[in-house]
Amino acid sequence: MLVNSHKYGRRTAMKIIQTPKEMSEFSEKMRGEGKKIALVPTMGALHEGHMSLIDIAKKNADIVVVSVFVNPTQFGPNEDFAAYPRSLEADAAACEERGVDVVFAPSASSIYRKDASTYVVEEEVSANLCGKSRPNHFRGVATVVSILFNIVRPHAAVFGEKDAQQVSVIERMVRDLFIDVEIIRAPLVREKSGLALSSRNKYLHGAQLETARRLSQALLVGKKMVEDGCLNIHRVKAEIVNQLSRSSRIRVIYVEIVDAKTSLPVKEIVPGKCRAALAVWLDQTRLIDNMVL
Ligand code: PAJ
Repeated sequence: MLVNSHKYGRRTAMKIIQTPKEMSEFSEKMRGEGKKIALVPTMGALHEGHMSLIDIAKKNADIVVVSVFVNPTQFGPNEDFAAYPRSLEADAAACEERGVDVVFAPSASSIYRKDASTYVVEEEVSANLCGKSRPNHFRGVATVVSILFNIVRPHAAVFGEKDAQQVSVIERMVRDLFIDVEIIRAPLVREKSGLALSSRNKYLHGAQLETARRLSQALLVGKKMVEDGCLNIHRVKAEIVNQLSRSSRIRVIYVEIVDAKTSLPVKEIVPGKCRAALAVWLDQTRLIDNMVL
């Protein structure tokens, strides 16, 4: 199966690997041949945001592995684990088209033993923003990313700034645990309307999609304030909340201004070095967005 193979310069057909053992063996072989491996961890329902990560991975490595795994441990008991969109066939076709070498799509039972009792917990970066409203979320992310690193043994891994706090948690984790994987940041990809691409946008319909644009619009208002010289955190935050609150569909979970790289709280706004991050409920859908101010 060589879809558009010439377009992206593919040499061999894409593999779909479903067991950790086969994945490790493949990586070991590639490492033995001196190939550099980049991993793009995903939960599937792939869109152009994910594809941009794949393009960056390809520029940084010889072999690109995309993992597709809806990770149960990062969802809370009342969250959307069961409803999360799953589309492995379409995801694999999109990966093949983009020149991915391996899609790693393991079952939950092959990743987590029934009596698994070991977690990776990052305690500082995870404590604010989404960590407050999603207890154990980043524990699940750090744990599954560690597991994927141990199975795939990549030299590099690409993470998107759509989830800026997540990248900061992973960067802290690899630093603290001396994990030998280079973390590459990828810029946030938006629709023309400004809406940040997200697998969860599939939950939105009609008027909700219109309302969802308000997130990036509110962030842009904050950015403009900073550009116009307002460096007061409280005023910029309050204006972003005010913009969001104009829609009755939106309930603000948080709006915070943090360090653009570490995602830790800051005392004052330094233009270009701070990020406004927000999470909202839009009706029943939880959405996040962020922008460097
Ligand atoms: P998922 O939401 O599928 O996202 C996979 C990767 O794609 C993440 O690094 C995310 O930041 C990036 N991404 C998603 N939308 C993007 C956009 N609009 N622009 C740029 N990058 C975007 O994040 C996860 O999965 C999981 O938590 C995971 C890391 C796979 C662990 O389970």
